[in-house]
Amino acid sequence: MHRLAETSVPTDPTPETASFRRDLVRGLARKPRSIPAKHFYDARGAELFERICELPEYYPTRTELGILRRHAGEMSARLGPRCIVVEYGSGASLKTRILLDHLASPAAYVPVDISREQLASTAAALDAAYQELPVLPVCADYTADYEVPRPPGEAERTAIYFPGSTIGNFTPDEARHFLAHAAEVAGPNGALLIGIDLEKDAGILNAAYDDSAGVTAEFNKNLLVRANRELGADFRPERFRHVAFWDARHGRVEMHLESACDQRVRIDSHDFALAEGERIHTENSYKYSVSGFAELAERAGWRLGAAWTDADAWFAVLYLEVVSPSG
Ligand code: AVJ
Repeated sequence: MHRLAETSVPTDPTPETASFRRDLVRGLARKPRSIPAKHFYDARGAELFERICELPEYYPTRTELGILRRHAGEMSARLGPRCIVVEYGSGASLKTRILLDHLASPAAYVPVDISREQLASTAAALDAAYQELPVLPVCADYTADYEVPRPPGEAERTAIYFPGSTIGNFTPDEARHFLAHAAEVAGPNGALLIGIDLEKDAGILNAAYDDSAGVTAEFNKNLLVRANRELGADFRPERFRHVAFWDARHGRVEMHLESACDQRVRIDSHDFALAEGERIHTENSYKYSVSGFAELAERAGWRLGAAWTDADAWFAVLYLEVVSPSG
């Protein structure tokens, strides 16, 4: 029964699998070795991330939700009526709904996601929940070129919604490029509503990325499980340790997979020798101050309009406006 599913033959190559293969082979050949964090999110990875969001140590999701619930009225007032809401990485429909529930006659909801399945399920759910609202999904990489579809009715402005502090995965340089690109997409009079995780005590950060139940460790090692299933690699996940720590010098939490022994790994015709203690860098999660982020955004064509935080100032949601050429 189900013999085919149990063999180690790689599944059909999709564009995502092809890019995972390319990035993995390239990243393992490099020193220090690294794998881009975007590859965490296969179906199992997305499920593990949802469990991370429920962990007592992982404060960002519930803190951001609290800020959104508390201040959605003010956020919507800033955005104004007849907005085209362009959401990046359209996963968490709860955050989307909090905003949409407060917006004055939004012109359209445009989820942008590289994962076709994720996009289809988000679009279908929002379409059913908001009968009057045109839902116009775009399957694209939001860091690359894509067109915002025109809504059927009148629109006042384009607002990019980027909750979740996903921007923390970018280096400051990449973040600046991302923000400049977002300003172009949003256009004159454009807006950005973005979640950023704030700098805080190292102990809180270390616990958030190395939880006592080991869910983050499993999330990290799932990269290897995914490589075995999708690419036919021969990782032994139990031979790797989850390592996560706050790096004050770079202002980021780093995650690594550390080899627990001398070992070899094969992917296609490639063979990699990993020494005991050698690390594969799998994620950066940058933490900002509101003023530091505002400065970065200013250099990318944005002006900070408002910032909302929780009582502990652990997380912030920022409203920014595109700076028009005239000032
Ligand atoms: C989805 C990028 C916001 O950096 O906190 C959670 C991913 N990694 N635990 C984060 C993550 C480990 C998360 N982001």
